[in-house]
Amino acid sequence: MLRDLVNGVQHLGIPVWDMEQAAAWYEQKLGFERMQEKSVFYPVRLDILFLRLHDLIIALYKPAAHLLPALQKRGNGVIDHFAIDAPDFRACAERVYKRGAMLHASTPKGCVLYDHIGEKGVRGVNFEGPSGEVVELCHDYNHPYGSETGLQGWSHLAVKVTDLKVSLPFYEKLGFDKTMSGYLDTPKGRMQIVFVTNHGFTLELIQVTEADRQELKDRGEGRLDHIALDVKDARAAFFLCKSQGFLVTDTSLNELPLFEHGVRYFTILGPDGEKIQLNEKKTW
Ligand SMILES: [Fe+2]
Repeated sequence: MLRDLVNGVQHLGIPVWDMEQAAAWYEQKLGFERMQEKSVFYPVRLDILFLRLHDLIIALYKPAAHLLPALQKRGNGVIDHFAIDAPDFRACAERVYKRGAMLHASTPKGCVLYDHIGEKGVRGVNFEGPSGEVVELCHDYNHPYGSETGLQGWSHLAVKVTDLKVSLPFYEKLGFDKTMSGYLDTPKGRMQIVFVTNHGFTLELIQVTEADRQELKDRGEGRLDHIALDVKDARAAFFLCKSQGFLVTDTSLNELPLFEHGVRYFTILGPDGEKIQLNEKKTW
């Protein structure tokens, strides 16, 4: 089964137009560390830099110059934001703010309590990343942190969806299990929220309001471009996805010389067009 091949999340792909500026932002404001820097040909040159904060790996990549104008015009996409766990939330948020990160327009007053998420609620604050992506710091009161302090890595990645009845079974097929749910009331109506988890990696599926469905459909590829799931066997996953009716956008497997021995991957689309790579790290 496809779900048996998925080992959680491998990385989150973020297109940037100024690699050094973007990398410095993640290093200096949030404490990410450089893992690997590479230029690959895909089929044109693509500079790529992996940064890590505990289990959260982001892949910043700078596409070829002629693709940059389109990239800079991108708004927020279906993959809406990503969140970093912050047990001592106020201290972390203040530190990031003092280092000069700007609050994102979605949380203009800073910290927000989402009291209908899970049984105990979640606190969050959104910052604007260096290429316009939304980076949340998050404290989940449903999660026991013990005595941890400082930023902990992956909290969740939020994907906006039009219909949870479609998206939940889709992610379940990929090996995610529902762990928590809730809702958020907005002036336009209620947004239902479901959290799904695979190997400790959580996705937040947010069903937009009726009024916002068209806006979501009109969103193109966003500032957060793709999410890469780690799979044991990309070839087996490729044929399973094809035979099970997933929307596979590649005609064959791709290979790139990333990580130690290279990766083998292909891309599928989620119900709302979100790009999901199934990515196998080659071991030899
Ligand atoms: Fe979130």
